[in-house]
Amino acid sequence: MHKHVYIKTFGCQMNERDSEIMEQLLVRAGYICVRTSQDADLVILNTCSIRAKAEQKVFSLLGQLRQQKEKRPELRIAVAGCVAQQEGQHILRRMPHVDIIVGTQQFYQLPDMLQRLDQADSKQEICCTLDASFSIPPFQKLLHDAPPSPAEPEFRKFVTIMQGCNNFCSYCVVPATRGREISRPVQDILEEVRLLVARGIREITLLGQNVNSYGCTNDVADQPTGFADLLRMVAAIPGVQRLRFTSSNPQDLSVELVECFAELDNLCPHFHLPVQSGSDAVLKKMNRKYSRDLYLEKVAALRSACPDIAISTDVIVGFPGETDEDFKQTMDLLETVRYHGSFSFKYSDRPNTRSTEFSDKVAESIKSERLQRFQKRQDQISLEKNREYVGQTLEVMVEEIGSAKIKARTGSNHIVHFEDATERSPGDLVKVTIIHAGKHSLNGELPSP
Ligand code: 5AD
Ligand code: SF4
Repeated sequence: MHKHVYIKTFGCQMNERDSEIMEQLLVRAGYICVRTSQDADLVILNTCSIRAKAEQKVFSLLGQLRQQKEKRPELRIAVAGCVAQQEGQHILRRMPHVDIIVGTQQFYQLPDMLQRLDQADSKQEICCTLDASFSIPPFQKLLHDAPPSPAEPEFRKFVTIMQGCNNFCSYCVVPATRGREISRPVQDILEEVRLLVARGIREITLLGQNVNSYGCTNDVADQPTGFADLLRMVAAIPGVQRLRFTSSNPQDLSVELVECFAELDNLCPHFHLPVQSGSDAVLKKMNRKYSRDLYLEKVAALRSACPDIAISTDVIVGFPGETDEDFKQTMDLLETVRYHGSFSFKYSDRPNTRSTEFSDKVAESIKSERLQRFQKRQDQISLEKNREYVGQTLEVMVEEIGSAKIKARTGSNHIVHFEDATERSPGDLVKVTIIHAGKHSLNGELPSP
């Protein structure tokens, strides 16, 4: 009899990719994936702890699962990912109905842990998180030869190129949840991409906490390979129609990487370049290792190499000590760069981060007001920038086929909706003329013949 597993993923693409690997491991161990917890024998929450809110969501879902387990005591509940890594066995004390805790980079042990669960005397015995030294095991073979699920045609995939982070931005929990930076060997990455392309994947996104420093931290090839070198190698693999990457730290954005945008046709003209703040004083307290001026220089270099590049960012408002003047600098930076889009957040205290200790916290009401002001202005700018596309004919990649409209994406990462009588499949490239712009998406039509 097959068992059924439901995996719920919170947070970033790194977690999505980890969930995919967990899914493949469990399918190999005889599980079938289902879409709701009601149908499952095993529920896995792959968790995020980047902000307090993300963690609260996990605990509230665990609360709901307690009721399900009261009705069905045989239900197994696993907590994986960043909250598991950070809280470890505390979760078992707070939520005794949880059966398994499995930290980041330990999830490949999951099938084995599930087997041991039935024989173990206590759950604590099989709780598995990285140890304090964060000695990360070598990259596991990433199971890329597992058969694709036939139910959902796939056309794009994430490929992990590195894990962890050595930057220790003072607000960030990632170095504590994902450990030290480690780059995956070049040949492994290239082999995985080749296999994916052979299976029909057309778009590859290279994934890491800080991809710009790929290859800096350990020997990854016979010869030193930087991120720009790796991009060139992946871009040269026949069948890679679109290439993207995330995430980047401005301090490590090299001239060679900027040149890739002028050079590589299949590298999408989109750059997510988190700035966090427009104030040098705040950047310093955040332990970001660039100044506002240096950041602006990198933006100018990208735009000069690739004039139609779309730049997006992450911003934190209300970092401890952020004054009205500091925030004004962030608003001013928004006017200067005019991002296509951004993700903005209120600063949130996280355990094991330096900024949690800072005494000059900003009041919640001020954080909310600053966030609102930032987002309102960003929305206006996004709309203005999106309107610049009206009348242009762009190549889009089909993502979803709805009953009336097709949802697709431009290289610059804009969503486009359009109607098409031709039968299309996800992954198809189509030329579309933009006829209308909203702040979050565009509408298009097939160009007249
Ligand atoms: N509070 C608020 N936002 C945060 N981020 C990371 N840590 C925190 C925190 N403690 C944001 C940053 C980062 C994005 C992934 O999440 O903007 O780039
Ligand atoms: Fe966190 Fe900074 Fe590393 Fe990004 S670069 S994961 S913000 S510590």
